Amino acid sequence: MSVRSPVITVDGPSGVGKGTLCQWLATRLGWPLLDSGALYRLTALAALRRNLILDDEPGIAQVAAGLSVTFTPGDDGALQIVLDGEDVSTAIRCEKMGNAASQVAALPAVRAALLQRQRDFRQPPGLIADGRDMGTVVFPDAELKLFLTADAGERAQRRYKQLIEKGMNANLNDLVKEIAERDARDAQRAVAPLKAAADAEVLDTTRLSIADVCQWALTLAQQRLAVRVIP
Ligand code: C5P
Repeated sequence: MSVRSPVITVDGPSGVGKGTLCQWLATRLGWPLLDSGALYRLTALAALRRNLILDDEPGIAQVAAGLSVTFTPGDDGALQIVLDGEDVSTAIRCEKMGNAASQVAALPAVRAALLQRQRDFRQPPGLIADGRDMGTVVFPDAELKLFLTADAGERAQRRYKQLIEKGMNANLNDLVKEIAERDARDAQRAVAPLKAAADAEVLDTTRLSIADVCQWALTLAQQRLAVRVIP
């Protein structure tokens, strides 16, 4: 009989700090990380490179189903992402690609094409799954579901800091606008809209430090799953 591997899902809106928490948890538990947003960003990048328009649902679903991508974790927990032999880890992180990802993510056939690929990441010893619908659609039977929220203004500030630290261009006013647009599209779409699973643990992180959020998640993981923590 096969034993199901445990999953911790981390969902929430753009810029809430899911990525930072997930990388930290993955390193502390020694579990791989599924960055599902990267799959939507990769789909958008590959579609744009093929000159597809972003509402060509069958065309983009085909691109999603055929993505040739590898994710390799680095020492710091960050993923190196290679698409068709090219390292696109940085190229997919710009806001333009975040917005394009959110457009292709609203297409039901694209979500369906990526579903099994995401579920295949569930392997021993366990998985940290970062996204919008990890706890509701992709892993509804996850052992622990976390959902982070924060004020939109605070999320724009965090995203701004993150982009500047990576040496990328950023404008705070544009980010506030883009985050609001992306929130609306992600929350209002017909398929797998952004929302907390009924059995998720929800945390408003607006006034919390990253360390506070990480400690909250680790304590829950230790309570719910007999996880071994790497010092
Ligand atoms: O998390 P990230 O900002 O990389 O996600 C980019 C976009 O991909 C999101 O704005 C959202 O529209 C989409 N996405 C999604 N479902 C996921 C992960 C990301 O729809 N599980």
